Order: sequence, then C-alpha cells, then structure tokens
Amino acid sequence: MSPSSNLQLQHFHVNKAARAKVNKQKPCVLWFTGLSGSGKTTLSNQLEQALFDRGHRTYALDGDNVRHGLNKDLGFTEHDRKENIRRVAEVAKLMVDAGLIVIATFISPFKTDRDMARSIFEPGEFFEIYVDTPIATCEARDPKGLYKKAREGQIKNFTGIDSPYEVPLQPDLTINTHTLSVDQAVQQLLQLLQLHE
Ligand code: ADX
Repeated sequence: MSPSSNLQLQHFHVNKAARAKVNKQKPCVLWFTGLSGSGKTTLSNQLEQALFDRGHRTYALDGDNVRHGLNKDLGFTEHDRKENIRRVAEVAKLMVDAGLIVIATFISPFKTDRDMARSIFEPGEFFEIYVDTPIATCEARDPKGLYKKAREGQIKNFTGIDSPYEVPLQPDLTINTHTLSVDQAVQQLLQLLQLHE
C-alpha cells in the first residue's frame, strides 16, 4: 500500500481557472533543458523580464537556486537528478495551479524525467524548450569554472563530461544560441506563448 492510499484530493472554490482569470493569463510552464552553461538562466531572466513588463505574473524556478533550499539534500547521481526533477515539476504544477507563468531552468538531462514532468500537466500547459549550445561552447564559457573542475576529476557525474545529456527529440522549441541573439530568442518564446505584439 502506498503512503498516499488513505488520502483524498480536496477541492476548493477558488480554483485554477478563477486564478488564471484574475491574473488575465493562461498559466503554463516553459521548461528549459540544456547543458550547464548553455544559456538557460540568461534566457529565463530576459523572458521573465519581458513577461513582467507586459503585466504577466511569473516565477522563475532555477536549478542552482532550488538546490540551495528545497533540494539541498540532492546531488547529481541519476537517482538524485530524477528526484530533483520530480520535486520541481510538482512545484511548477502548484505554481501553474496558482495562476502563474513558470519558467523552469534545469539541465534535466534524461528524457524519461522530462517526459514525466510533461505528463503531470494538462495538454497545452507544458512547453519543452531545448537550449541547443554545443558542449565546446559551454566549456569555453565555463561561467562557474565547473567544466574545468570536472575535467580535472574534482567533480563527478558532470553532465556532458562523465554523465550523459539526452538531446530532446521533439521539443516545442529549439533555441540555437549560436544563431539567435537573446532578444531574438525571447521574441520566439513570446510567439510560442502567442504573447508577441
Ligand atoms: S539536473 O541535472 O538535476 O537538472 P540542475 O539544473 O538542478 O541539474 O543543476 C545544475 C547546476 O548544478 C549546474 O548549472 C551547475 O552549476 C551545478 N552542478 C554542480 N555539480 C554538477 C554536476 N555534476 N553536473 C551538472 N551540474 C552540476
């Protein structure tokens, strides 16, 4: 018997539809996946600003930040990454229920975990965005000096070095950071959400 087998879902009068209406937006999650240093956080930052400036209610959920709090007990084994993604997907779902546009930035290297995340949302609520930056570029940028440490063996299970990254096969949008500027990418993301002018 699972620990939740004697629990019942409770229904409240103020529901997702009511909160979406008062927020004047269609709540959803934009799930950015890509290597460390690919530009996920930069894009998230600019996109959230653009949405905020248009009067939208947003929240940015970021791997490094969430791992300082809710997920500080998790590391980077396959098992821990799965639990990381499970928890943040559930948090994103609560935030969508709360009426927000959620921008989630997690390496989320495994297809099964990304598919699991999508599966807990309603159709049309989850957009998978692949931030497509070659590992050579990420490693040359190395904004946190982590690739260097991984190459030197100081960090284990580093994505792209000694832990795999499974490229999304059917993302809702691919952002090639070599050919697009951040502003152009933000425009594409707004178009995806049908929020461009
Ligand atoms: S995920 O794989 O579980 O989705 P998440 O996005 O939360 O990863 O965290 C990734 C961030 O943790 C990276 O941007 C990097 O700063 C840091 N990090 C520390 N160790 C590792 C590692 N072994 N592999 C990848 N990222 C790491």
